[in-house]
Amino acid sequence: MNRIFSGVQPSGAMQLGNYLGAIRNFVRLQDDYDCIYCVVDLHAITLWQDPKLLAEQTRHVTASYLAAGVDPKQSIIFNQSAVAGHAQLAWIFNCVARIGWLNRMTQFKEKAGKHRENASVGLYVYPDLMAADILLYKATHVPVGEDQKQHLELTRDIAQKFNHDYGVEYFPITEPLIFGEATRVMSLRDGTKKMSKSDPSDYSRINLTDDADAIALKIRKARTDPHPLPETIEDLEKRPEANNLVGIYAALADISRPEALAKVAGTQFAGFKQELADLAVEKVGPIGAEMQRLTADPGHVDAILKEGAERAAAIAEPILKDVMEIVGFLRP
Ligand code: TYM
Repeated sequence: MNRIFSGVQPSGAMQLGNYLGAIRNFVRLQDDYDCIYCVVDLHAITLWQDPKLLAEQTRHVTASYLAAGVDPKQSIIFNQSAVAGHAQLAWIFNCVARIGWLNRMTQFKEKAGKHRENASVGLYVYPDLMAADILLYKATHVPVGEDQKQHLELTRDIAQKFNHDYGVEYFPITEPLIFGEATRVMSLRDGTKKMSKSDPSDYSRINLTDDADAIALKIRKARTDPHPLPETIEDLEKRPEANNLVGIYAALADISRPEALAKVAGTQFAGFKQELADLAVEKVGPIGAEMQRLTADPGHVDAILKEGAERAAAIAEPILKDVMEIVGFLRP
């Protein structure tokens, strides 16, 4: 059986990259897989989160799943801390993963920056928890944006080493699902930097809850170069900002990048930006409005998370029990 697991951190406002790189794909996979979509609050606290905001942010991410079209009857939606097995399996994986493997993780290096000694231990072992999220359900496929690829390779290494060390064929070797024209949406202020919830500049990203004026303004102000849009993909790829905007356009219009370029090649940025802003407002606007509606009724969102956690725990429990037996824990 094929099972999907994926997650988003409740660590800030949901932005266009989260939508185009991940949650839009969550929706598209629902009919072909059993899907489990998590709001990873344990991951979020690897960087300090204001406790008053964390619960709100958890509902905000949940609302984005629902507004994008994840069906809570068909798929499981829950928050990570509600199923204790994530932290339990993560501990076992802390003892499987090697320090050398974690030292290679580029996301840790980026997030810890120059203050490595001062980063939380949680931030360092974060990829072990991510492997536990996935393998607690023996998920076979994981839809994510490009930036999570290295963490998924580590998940495969952990599964392989666990199977090898304990002489079992227990965990599946998970496949990443990275697809669409926007697997890596870049900042609107700098075409070489990823669009991110945590970028200090709000102009760097389109938030899913931005209104039409904010979306249009951010696109109008997006950094570009002075030349008209190129004729070929090869030339486009040499211009990071232009490439990013054409990629966003293609993803929003649900066409390929060459098809998108064919529509706008040779035109000036001003006209293209207007067209892109109209399209973004048309596609993102309704999602943001639905998110606002959903978060106005926290009871409804919480009920979905509660039911999801019960369904997730029912899948996780027998798997965690097997793992404990394999490892040799006495369960008197
Ligand atoms: P997070 O919360 O940073 O991002 C959530 C999802 O959005 C994708 N994404 C992007 N895609 C394209 N362009 C962008 N600019 C962009 N920014 C974010 C991410 O690739 C991700 O798919 N470690 C994960 C959360 C996680 C997880 C898991 C994912 C925890 N456990 C298990 C899958 C399976 C993270 O920090 O995602």
